[in-house]
Order: sequence, then C-alpha cells, then structure tokens
Amino acid sequence: MFDRIQPAPPDPILGLTDAYRADPRPCKVNLGVGVFMDETGTTPILDAVRKAEHLLAATEKTKSYLPISGDPATMRLVGELVFGGDFAPLREGRIAAAQALGGTGALRLGFALARQLRPGATVWLPAPTWGNHGAILRDVGLAQDTYPWYDPASRSVADAPLLDALSAVPPTDIVLLHACCHNPTGADPDPALWQQIAAIAETRGWLPFFDFAYQGFGQNPVDDRAGLLTVLSRVPEALVATSFSKNMGLYSERAGSLQLLARTPDDAQAALTHVRRIARVLYSNPPRHGAAIAGTILADTELRALWLHELAAMQRRIAGNRTLLADGLAARNPDRDFTYIVRQNGMFSYSGLTEAQVAWLRAERAIYMVKGGRINVAGLLPATLPYVCDSITESLRLFP
Ligand SMILES: Cc1ncc(COP(=O)(O)O)c(C=O)c1O
Repeated sequence: MFDRIQPAPPDPILGLTDAYRADPRPCKVNLGVGVFMDETGTTPILDAVRKAEHLLAATEKTKSYLPISGDPATMRLVGELVFGGDFAPLREGRIAAAQALGGTGALRLGFALARQLRPGATVWLPAPTWGNHGAILRDVGLAQDTYPWYDPASRSVADAPLLDALSAVPPTDIVLLHACCHNPTGADPDPALWQQIAAIAETRGWLPFFDFAYQGFGQNPVDDRAGLLTVLSRVPEALVATSFSKNMGLYSERAGSLQLLARTPDDAQAALTHVRRIARVLYSNPPRHGAAIAGTILADTELRALWLHELAAMQRRIAGNRTLLADGLAARNPDRDFTYIVRQNGMFSYSGLTEAQVAWLRAERAIYMVKGGRINVAGLLPATLPYVCDSITESLRLFP
C-alpha cells in the first residue's frame, strides 16, 4: 500500500508552523497559525481552566463513555452561552445540540448531516474563507460554491455583491456564514447588513450554517452573537458550529458543539438522532475532559467570572495590537491608510500584502504569514513589533 507512495501536500497553515519551527534565524516571527499568544509569545492555559481542572481532578467520579451527543447538562450551558438563555427558540426547545471535536468536528458533523438529509445541496462559502471549509466539504461529498465576501478596495465586506449573490442562492442550498471575526479577512457585517442578510435568508429559504469559532474575540460573547441572533430569529432552521478552542484556549482538548435549530422540538430531537449516528461511526463518543472543563467553568459563578475576565483581556490584547500595528505602519508610511487594521475584528487581519511581499518577508526577514497576506495580530509581541513594521514597510517599497 505504501510502496513508492507520494507524500500528501502539507497543510497550508499547519505546514507554515513546521517551516517556522525549523527556521534557525533568531529574529523569526510567526504571524501564521491562528492561536492566541500573550506578550511573551506563549499560548497560555487560562487560570479559570486550571482551577476547573483542579476541581475536576478532585470530584470527577468516572471516565466512562459520555453519551454520543455529550453530557446534556453541559450542552445546555453551552447553548445558553452561544445564544443567551432568553433566546426564544432555545427556551422553546427548538434547539438541540451535540458535543463535537472542536469547531472542526462540529462543521464535519453538520456537513455530514446535510449530506444525508440534503444530498443534492450546494454549500455556499464566503470568498475567501478558512481553507478547511472547502476541504471538509470535499471529503464529505457535498457540492460547494462561493459568494463574494470581501472588497479589497474598501477592505471591508462587499455589501452589494454579497447581497446579490445570497439573493440568488436556491432555497434548498446552504450558506456558510462566519458569525464574527471572519477568517481570514477580519471583516464582519455591521448590524444593518446582518438585517439584510437575515431578510434574504427568510425570504429565499436557504439554510444558514454559522461557523462561530471566535465568540468573545470580536467584542465580547454577547455582542459577538448579535448577527447570528438577527438571522436565527427570522429563519425556521439553521446550524451553528461552536468551539472552545479560542475563547477558553482549549485548542488541543477538542471541545465544541453543533447546534441545530428546527421548526419544532420534535424535529430538533429527531435531527439530533441523525447526528448521533454520524458521530457513532466517526469516533463513537466524544472526549470528556475539554467539555468537562468548559461545563465546570460555565456552571460555577466564580469560575465563569474569572473566565470572562481573562477572555476580555485576550480580546483587549488583540485589539491593542491592531492599534499598535496600524500606528507603527502609518508612522513609517504616511501616504498610506492603515485604519482598516483597526476596523477589522478578531485575530486576523487581511494585510493586503501581495504574494511577492509575503514571500520576501519570509525569505529575507523570517516573518511567516499565510499566503494571501493573512496576519495573526495576536502573534505580534512588543519585542518584535518594530521589526515587523520596518520589514513590512521595506516589502512595500521593494514590491510596490
Ligand atoms: C473559521 C474557523 N472555523 C473553525 C475553526 C476550527 O477550530 P477548532 O480548533 O475548534 O476545530 C477555526 C480554527 O482556526 C476557524 O478559524
């Protein structure tokens, strides 16, 4: 089977981290992979997580299998975090949830469910989007297409082309939307645009599938769900993929959920039985530890407050870095406008750097970023920021 087999192509983003690790230059800077870093360049374990783990170590009674769709009490708490406890469809029992292996696992379950229930559907992805969306869809065997998201001229959401495209999506298709902190552009709709998207979803009847991987990284957990709630209040059915990778820093614990909004509680529960069947053959039942950490934090008033405090600090560091980067570049390039960096949301900034500039920065300055010029602003450190601003300025001069 493996005789003279060709190696698979490296993952474009994780492969970048491997190349960064192997780079011996001491000045190297990793602005590629999408993980939060503190001022020292580490991806920390939150205090709330440590405390929850201590509590779990002292009180957990079993490592026996969880139900296939996860612990119901934990899933209830997750639903309340995602939608808010007073969201009518949640109170009415029209939302069912399954624990998932991070946001990726949730997307996988949701796409597999769509493949089963709507095999002829096309999933419409924003252009650009996180590379794994298309890859998962190919693997699941669902057709995909794209709709415009980003306008490079205004460096914001391409309102009119986006609305035109969504108005033409057939009712039996599915539209993937980033709920906040769009990856890779950092460009999110404003409330008025969300209203227009919601109106089109309602009248056209296509199924919205929200990828909500960054709740709390844009503004805060409540404001970040505003667009999602705007749409979900007006449609009978939807899917939402959530993740604790970023907002609790539980990257390697693989904790997330797939939320299903249906017309009735019976429909929601019936849909969940299909998700369980899909999960059963993929991994049988979900991992306990990450979800137990999240559940412990959400259930405990003090731990929850501590977590929200730490999440706010992560959000502030990201927003602060945006200002530092924009100011640093503006000071070196007075004839250019960098205010878009501050307007964008979440960890990523679409820098607008060309392929040649990105390649030069990597080859000559050991500054790593994703092709297309996506910068993880959380990867900027006080010690490296001037070097990054100088280097980007030089790349702009060399490759105008
Ligand atoms: C847009 C988007 N969706 C989903 C994910 C998946 O996150 P997880 O690590 O929870 O699988 C990511 C992670 O980078 C992401 O950027």
